[in-house]
Amino acid sequence: MTYDFESCPDRRGSESVKWDLYPGTLPLWVADMDFKVAPEIRHALQRRLDHGVFGYELIPDDYFQAMGRWFATRHGWEGISRENIVPTTGVIAAYSAAIKAMTVPGDKVMVMTPCYNAFFPAIRNNKCIQLDNPLHYDGKSYIVDWDDFEKKAADARVLLLCNPHNPAGRVWTREELLLIAGICQRHGVFVISDEIHCELTYPGHDYTPWATLPQEYVLNSVSCISPTKAFNIAGIQIANIFAKDPQILAKMDRAINDNECCDVNIFGVTALKAAYNEGGPWLDQLREYLFHNARTVACFLEDELPQVTVLPLEGTYLMWLNCRAALQDGEPLEGFSERFGKHLQEKVKLTLSNGSIYGAAGEGFMRVNIACPRSRLLDGMQRFIAGFESYRFQK
Ligand SMILES: Cc1ncc(COP(=O)(O)O)c(C=O)c1O
Repeated sequence: MTYDFESCPDRRGSESVKWDLYPGTLPLWVADMDFKVAPEIRHALQRRLDHGVFGYELIPDDYFQAMGRWFATRHGWEGISRENIVPTTGVIAAYSAAIKAMTVPGDKVMVMTPCYNAFFPAIRNNKCIQLDNPLHYDGKSYIVDWDDFEKKAADARVLLLCNPHNPAGRVWTREELLLIAGICQRHGVFVISDEIHCELTYPGHDYTPWATLPQEYVLNSVSCISPTKAFNIAGIQIANIFAKDPQILAKMDRAINDNECCDVNIFGVTALKAAYNEGGPWLDQLREYLFHNARTVACFLEDELPQVTVLPLEGTYLMWLNCRAALQDGEPLEGFSERFGKHLQEKVKLTLSNGSIYGAAGEGFMRVNIACPRSRLLDGMQRFIAGFESYRFQK
């Protein structure tokens, strides 16, 4: 490997949410990576820093060109340009504005749970009602419960889709997306596709941009995209809303102006251009490293703790573990993830994400962020096993 994913800076004391919120624990929770950002991006940022003036800036054409080239060549998504993009300060800002633009208070917004926890406040903050379509867990992985999906779609105004899906680790296939699109079209449901995890997919599981579905579906949708997750620049905060329909685009533009999140960070512009223009080789090696991390976790737990089901990771660097086997005799499932998470923090100094924060469907699961050096991940898994055993047999 040309790039180094083994030695990482010490993030303790750097005001990192992941490392400094629960000091003294090994943090495998918040979705950022412990790896240093690609040198190509760091150098671009350094050059910009060296200019020494950081005033307000226009967004240049080559920002849109870099994004357009990247998605066309890597993902077969042609046609991204300044004419169909609204830049904003992050993906949460993007989908929240999109909800605002496409709903009126009291409308129902459908989510496929367990899903990214910051979907929930965005629905509430826009005075909408959350409608859960729980994914069907078949004991191994998640599939869509189509009957329930159809039923909920009949009642919903918007679907907030996570493509690929955090925390289930699913990379929706084109066939699945077409089914989702068909049902949404039948019921007049507008689709907001959050594609922040789109670069992080593993062999056999290709990301399908929502915008590459047939035009009739794309016209009634927006896609929220950003390089921040894949290139580990989440703190820089930059994202884009794509809308094929100019009238929808105008609504997005209005909403991000209403929400006052239309002026982006100048370093975000620099970082995005460097990521999309020069970041490909780094990203490919990162994906390979993460793929091996995921296999390491799966093999390790299969050998050492087969009671825990590790869901196959098709995409994202967030693994989803069914920990219900740790339940003590007679212990209710409700509240288990939180109790178990607290136990892991107190007894083995390990912080994971509690599955229940992703909706009731996540109760009994824990989410593990594997984007760190392999030795650190193995340390985490050893702690996890010790924590699991001590929880199971505690008095
Ligand atoms: C699905 C999803 N959307 C959005 C975000 C956050 O995006 P941003 O930091 O650009 O607001 C995350 C972060 O983990 C995420 O997993």
